[in-house]
Amino acid sequence: MRDAPPVRFGVEQVRKLKSDAAFEDRCSSLDIAFPRSGIPNEVLATPFLVGSRRVGNRFCVLPMEGWDGTADGRPTENVERRWSRFGASGAKLVWGGEAVAVRHDGRANQRQLNIGPESVGDLSRLRELLVSAHRDATGTVDELVIGLQLTHSGRWANPAGTAAPKIAFQHPFLDDRVGARAGDVVSDGWLDDLVGDFVEAARVAFEAGFDFVDVKHCHGYLLHELLSATERPGPYGGGLTGRTRFLGLVTEGIRRDAPGLMVGVRLSAFDLVPHCPGPDRVGTPVFLPSGKERYRFAFGGDGTGLGIDLTEVHAFCELLVALGIPLLCVTAGSPYYSPHIQRPAYFPPSDGYLAPRDPLIEVARMIDVTSELATSHPALSVVASGLTYLQEWLPGVAAGIVAGGGAASIGYGRGVLAYPGLPNDVLGSRPLARSELCRTFSDCTTAPRHGLVSGCYPIDPFYKSSQERVQLTIFKKQARDTD
Ligand SMILES: Cc1cc2nc3c(=O)[nH]c(=O)nc-3n(C[C@H](O)[C@H](O)[C@H](O)COP(=O)(O)O)c2cc1C
Repeated sequence: MRDAPPVRFGVEQVRKLKSDAAFEDRCSSLDIAFPRSGIPNEVLATPFLVGSRRVGNRFCVLPMEGWDGTADGRPTENVERRWSRFGASGAKLVWGGEAVAVRHDGRANQRQLNIGPESVGDLSRLRELLVSAHRDATGTVDELVIGLQLTHSGRWANPAGTAAPKIAFQHPFLDDRVGARAGDVVSDGWLDDLVGDFVEAARVAFEAGFDFVDVKHCHGYLLHELLSATERPGPYGGGLTGRTRFLGLVTEGIRRDAPGLMVGVRLSAFDLVPHCPGPDRVGTPVFLPSGKERYRFAFGGDGTGLGIDLTEVHAFCELLVALGIPLLCVTAGSPYYSPHIQRPAYFPPSDGYLAPRDPLIEVARMIDVTSELATSHPALSVVASGLTYLQEWLPGVAAGIVAGGGAASIGYGRGVLAYPGLPNDVLGSRPLARSELCRTFSDCTTAPRHGLVSGCYPIDPFYKSSQERVQLTIFKKQARDTD
């Protein structure tokens, strides 16, 4: 039986909004408005340019890892299945597949993929599986652009089953979460070496046939954390020039060692003070500054801990353009301390909290930020994220965003685990398979938090009928009983 969510005032399930008018009414009552278009297939089927490459439609599969690689970081059958389904979706842009650690100490868990001696073969096979599933589903692989996401997990590194944080600076609220101490602050020399690892991983991706690499700057991982290292002394901290030095060096190295490989950046374009479950399990900030105090650790934050100031984010976008980086994927915060802002959900993951306000407001905020960046920096092809929560309303809003220039491409994340055929169905003007829509149960996050592989347990028959689902149900029941 499904978890019964605690009754919440002020949050209404999208699934229960039965008509266009009901959706619009709900949005007006929340004081938000989404761009909408009545002809999603026409708008979303148009190609666009990334640099000199044409991308055949406006759907993008977002990176979705599965906590299901081998102990030494190589793909398994589960990984291959996921990548095949990404290809079969019909989306012409594939943003990274999933996070791949550039070296062992950068893995976020013992089952994350990791660049190693077999990676050229492994990654080229994954890519081939994706391409061939795309061909089978759509009849052509023209204008299909595929990237690989490269990461170092930094503060959240856990390569061998125990937290082994590598931090850019000491953080007043996050250090205790992972047992980080002063000795875990990485040195400048260590970062110099890591630049080399990113460049080598990019070279491997190029050899494996990828079109671009994402130098991941989001979700609280190391390069995202560096962006708020204002108090770090030395070449990688201080002003924005120091905080973005790493990206400049990696890009320079890629141009040298993998000429022709495009570079993209997935960016948490704003961030908040960490949240935790408060009274009634509703998400609450762990701290809010008072008087003249400023919260200094949120890149894209306004110092209040909750507000946004995109001044530095615009400067970052200008830097991307100056570096010749044509692709930006916009996300926010971190799943470790602010999951409600980048993965709006009705049902929180087991280590999360109930949404502090209607998740539709979070979706609207992400769209606003994405749109501001896309319209201000036309040289960038900007990809939107966090739209799965829209469910039935995703295609119309996606088309509205693209038609209004609010993004070049529409990222599709959790939804692709449940309903990979949605892009194809929309592009083919077929009705949505409503029973396959992701209803944001968050099992794809709760499962790995309990050491199980990720996947869509409520909808995908492969996971629904798996032994892991039985274990997941037991974990969830235990969590409810101890609540
Ligand atoms: C199970 C799971 C795995 C994810 N893996 C990654 C990842 O490897 N890299 C990344 O940048 N984001 C990852 N994300 C975040 C998604 O790419 C996406 O930003 C998020 O789910 C919001 O988009 P959506 O509303 O379409 O789901 C993951 C999210 C989930 C739920």
